[in-house]
Amino acid sequence: MIVLVTGAAGLLGGRVAALLSSRFDVVAARHTASPPPGVAAVDLDLLDPASLASALERARPHAVVHCAAQSNPDRCEREPEPAERLNVEATAGLARACRTRGLRLVSLSTDLVFAGDHPFVREEDPPGPLLVYGRTKLAGEEAVVAEAPDAAVLRVALVAGRGHGAKGTCTESIAWALRARRPLRLYTDQVRTPVDSASVADAASRALERPVSGRFHLGGPERLSRYELGLRVATVLGSSDAGIVPVTVAEMPQEARRPADTSLDSGRARRELGWEPRSLAEAVRDGRPAPD
Ligand SMILES: NC(=O)c1ccc[n+]([C@@H]2O[C@H](COP(=O)([O-])OP(=O)(O)OC[C@H]3O[C@@H](n4cnc5c(N)ncnc54)[C@H](OP(=O)(O)O)[C@@H]3O)[C@@H](O)[C@H]2O)c1
Repeated sequence: MIVLVTGAAGLLGGRVAALLSSRFDVVAARHTASPPPGVAAVDLDLLDPASLASALERARPHAVVHCAAQSNPDRCEREPEPAERLNVEATAGLARACRTRGLRLVSLSTDLVFAGDHPFVREEDPPGPLLVYGRTKLAGEEAVVAEAPDAAVLRVALVAGRGHGAKGTCTESIAWALRARRPLRLYTDQVRTPVDSASVADAASRALERPVSGRFHLGGPERLSRYELGLRVATVLGSSDAGIVPVTVAEMPQEARRPADTSLDSGRARRELGWEPRSLAEAVRDGRPAPD
């Protein structure tokens, strides 16, 4: 199966492209940054319909895994229109192209579509995004479901484990700060179920191979605050946690207001995809010693 991966140079998208290539003939869609080495690539600007048509013509995929997004919540808050164009309009155009050509589509979304007012949210719980990023990703999900009803939408929690490119996953960023003895101020009142990038790639692989559709939650096996996550990374790596300082959102506000608790109930993925996320300790140990 030939699988086109959009956003294949992204923090998560790069890992998904690299890991799927052990099982499928992956073609990485390249925008400006470099996808993983050794993976075939075609150029793609999702904002340009002619570029999309040309990439699909050249790659001739049987399926698409859609990872491209404007995924920086603060940037989305500052620049909502470009976020809307990529996360909603371009996503709708891609879903339409997949349906027209009969291509399987697996599209990535986020836990930040929820308001975060109760733990372990399920797929059928009502969304209520607090930030522009979550609002555009939710509208993108709705466009995917409307344009390509057979598509699978994977709602991914905060990404842990090994990333791709210049940025770090949540566990890599903590590990790099600990190693450099940089002080870290981490929230006690933002709770997540961090999920290993390799587990996300595994879920994408399973969703490509099964006739499943609709939304799937992909959360890791533990629910914890960013501060608890920092302490856990230090323990797994045998580092001192002396530089980790607990803070609240009120003490250190962010540009885009994140929800308090978007821990995910991932029962549907377990039941219907046979998916099991890797442990947090495995994710921490898989992290890179430094950015690529
Ligand atoms: N990282 C997380 O913690 C996290 C958590 C939950 C969900 N997600 C979701 O997972 C998916 C992948 O996230 P990520 O972390 O890999 O995001 P990322 O690091 O921000 O990467 C975004 C990718 O989109 C590409 N892109 C941007 N504009 C484009 C355009 N006009 N045409 C084609 N490609 C374009 C970028 O390419 P260039 O860099 O070359 O411009 C980059 O490869 C997204 O749907 C995101 O919402 C991520």
